[in-house]
Formats: sequence, structure tokens, C-alpha cells
Amino acid sequence: MSEAPELRIMHGCDELAREAADFVLWVGQQTLAQAGRCRMVLAGGATPRALYRALARAGPGELDWQRVEFFFGDERCVPPDHPDSNYRMANETLFTPLKLDPNRVARMVGEGSNADAIARQYEATVRERCSTPAPAVPRFDLVLLGLGEDGHTASLFPQTPALEERVRLVIGSVAPREPRQRVTVTLPAINGAGTVVFLVSGAAKAPAVRAVLEPRDEYERRLPARLVQPTAGRLVWFLDREAAAHLAAVKQQVDDREE
Ligand code: 6PG
Repeated sequence: MSEAPELRIMHGCDELAREAADFVLWVGQQTLAQAGRCRMVLAGGATPRALYRALARAGPGELDWQRVEFFFGDERCVPPDHPDSNYRMANETLFTPLKLDPNRVARMVGEGSNADAIARQYEATVRERCSTPAPAVPRFDLVLLGLGEDGHTASLFPQTPALEERVRLVIGSVAPREPRQRVTVTLPAINGAGTVVFLVSGAAKAPAVRAVLEPRDEYERRLPARLVQPTAGRLVWFLDREAAAHLAAVKQQVDDREE
């Protein structure tokens, strides 16, 4: 990791969602003020639900959502109304409550069996929307990421060829669990961002958080989430205390308090 990322550790998942939402709104406000547009890449899975609900409560007075453009970090190859669809989760918790113009959302058209074709189509969409022809890398203003218990992020899984991709922005991927067929942004797409935020909650993630942030061997140093190192951007980890519990610095604080 080029330099130690910023850690923001909250007491519980509610505070985590609120604090992360405040930060996302701040990034959006700064970006719109400076660039007049804001490109946000959303994470999937379950953890971001509370964050998206908190963001949806922020009305146009806090952020002009209709000037934000939404992309996805990954998608399962399922229809948009499927229970496993990352688009469905974001639509239910964020887009619909915001009454967002559907044209502001670049959905990964995940339905279909050919993940590589879906990935190529989405890359073309991203390049067109960001006016960034190949081989340049678009600069997303904010990329939101989760962390799997195995150290994966987006749909970049440990010890897979996806981690070696240096040219394409979006590729097909195979997950170790259902739904296995995925489409994911690549490390160059993530590391070109202005700000990258990890949002991680719960004791089950504590070993993965420690492995990524305090690796002890080469395997851990090569975990997908550890390879997220923005080239010229900011990296911030939003954790609750349960997810941070195995970090040396946090354990030291707890030990000090118990003395
Ligand atoms: C996905 C996500 C994935 C997720 C982690 C954590 O499509 O599943 O992109 O990377 O962020 O698996 O998932 P939870 O938030 O559900 O624990």
C-alpha cells in the first residue's frame, strides 16, 4: 500500500452508515462545485444498504442528485429485478427514494450468460459517458467498495487472473459462490478514482480487515482489497468497531483501556 489509508472507526453500523453518508455527500458537494458533475461508482452486497438509505434521506438541498451520475463496481449476471441484483438493491434503497432520473444511472446489463460481452458493453458505456476513449482511464470521483471475508472487493477474487488486468476497465469474473457469473470493474478503473471508500461492518469481516490492512505474508499482501491503492486519489476505510477489532492499533486501544 503506497501510504497508510485513512481509517474511520465507528461504534456501530448505524453510526457507520451516517458518517459514511456524510462523507459521500461532502465528496459530492466538493466535486459538483469544482467540476460541475460527479461520477459515483456503487458497491453491491448487503452492507451498503444502510448507507444508501441514509443518502436517500439527504434531499436536493444537501446534494443536487440529478447532477450525479451513478455507475456500478460489479454486478451478478442476473436480471435487474433478481434478489441478487446489485442494481435492484441500489434502485430500492437509493434511486427510487431519490426519484432519480433513470438516465443518471449506468446499469451493468447483467442479464445474460456471456459475462465478457456484458463487460465489454459496459466498458463502452463508461467510456462514452465519461468521454474517455481507450486506452485512457476515466476518473471516477468516488468509488464505493465492500470487503468479502476472503478479502475480495467488487468481484475481484483472490488469486484470479482478474487481478492482473491492466488494460480493460471492466471484465467478466467467476465468484466462488452463487451467483458465480459476475461482471466487475478492474483495479485500473478503481485506482484511477479521486476517492475510494471501503465500507465494512461486523465481526465476521475482522480477519479480512486485519489481513488487508496489516498483512503478514505474501498471500495477504496480494489480496484484492489490498491492491486497491488509488494512483492519485484518497483511500478511506469506514469500519465499525467489530470489523476493526483485529487491527493492532484498535487492540492496543482496548488493552490500554482495560489496564
Ligand atoms: C458484491 C459486492 C461484493 C461485496 C462483498 C461484501 O457484488 O457482492 O460487490 O464485493 O461488497 O462481498 O458483501 P456484503 O456487504 O454483503 O458483506
